[in-house]
Amino acid sequence: MTSVQVAETVKELQLYLEKARISNLTIGFVPTMGFLHEGHASLINTSTKQRDVTVVSIYVNPLQFDPDEDFDKYPKDISSDLDLCNEHGVDIVFMPSEEEMKPFLSEESLKLRGIVKIFEGESRPVHFQGVATVVKALFEIVGSSYAFFGEKDFQQLVLVKQLVDDYLLPVQVIGCPIIRENDGLAKSSRNVYLDSAEREQSAVIYQSLKAGAEAISKGETSIKNIEQLIKKTVETSPLANIDYVAVVDPLTFEIPNSIKNEVRLLVACNFGQARLIDNILAQREVVSS
Ligand code: PAJ
Repeated sequence: MTSVQVAETVKELQLYLEKARISNLTIGFVPTMGFLHEGHASLINTSTKQRDVTVVSIYVNPLQFDPDEDFDKYPKDISSDLDLCNEHGVDIVFMPSEEEMKPFLSEESLKLRGIVKIFEGESRPVHFQGVATVVKALFEIVGSSYAFFGEKDFQQLVLVKQLVDDYLLPVQVIGCPIIRENDGLAKSSRNVYLDSAEREQSAVIYQSLKAGAEAISKGETSIKNIEQLIKKTVETSPLANIDYVAVVDPLTFEIPNSIKNEVRLLVACNFGQARLIDNILAQREVVSS
């Protein structure tokens, strides 16, 4: 049933893209680690709507997992991934082996900005260096294109935009909205690690973010009060174990002194084996005169 084209080598992919470029077709690129769900599908849909050719990469990148993380047991289902790509009109799936990727991965650490050391970067020390190394390699392989990333991993999205600017990569990065379950939990490949009690209580993450955003829209300007409100809401779940709660400037990731207009609220939280992250945009209500 599956008929989407698969390239396992860089050469096969580049030959395909070269033909597309000769025909003046624009290229949309969706990098993933597989185990695809509706969150990934929404990035694919945006790409197929906006661009002529859509490439999806599926590569579980060992460099972005810390030693105590789930690289070995990261969930996989290639046949269902290919079905999803097929159903959503993907033109070509790039599925390289580690050996195939190796020559494209910088052996030296990339020079990245301070964003790699905070929040996710503080909790997962090698993570962003690993993400940047593989994303840079993938962008160099795919070449001139429009790349679609989810706001679900908001810090990753900002890091990738900085990477493109700093290394002058020929890619335009487009952020796409977070796709959620009915109770608000952000869709994630890692949600399969949740048992039923954890799954039920994990909805508290989105509730806490909504509570924070609502307080800001009603005029709360204190970062401390917002952080406390979010923490208090998450802590109503006995199974939640908060890693961090933060209020940041959505462009620079700096922590503002107080909330003046737009901020991003971030939560990272463990539920049993699963580390979940989520975020929301929060804005002061504009009072028109
Ligand atoms: P992965 O976790 O597979 O996610 C691939 C893309 O899907 C990312 O841009 C992510 O933000 C987006 N995504 C995941 N869940 C989403 C949701 N619920 N709503 C909207 N978008 C969602 O992120 C990675 O892979 C890797 O770090 C990668 C960039 C591929 C580098 O290895």
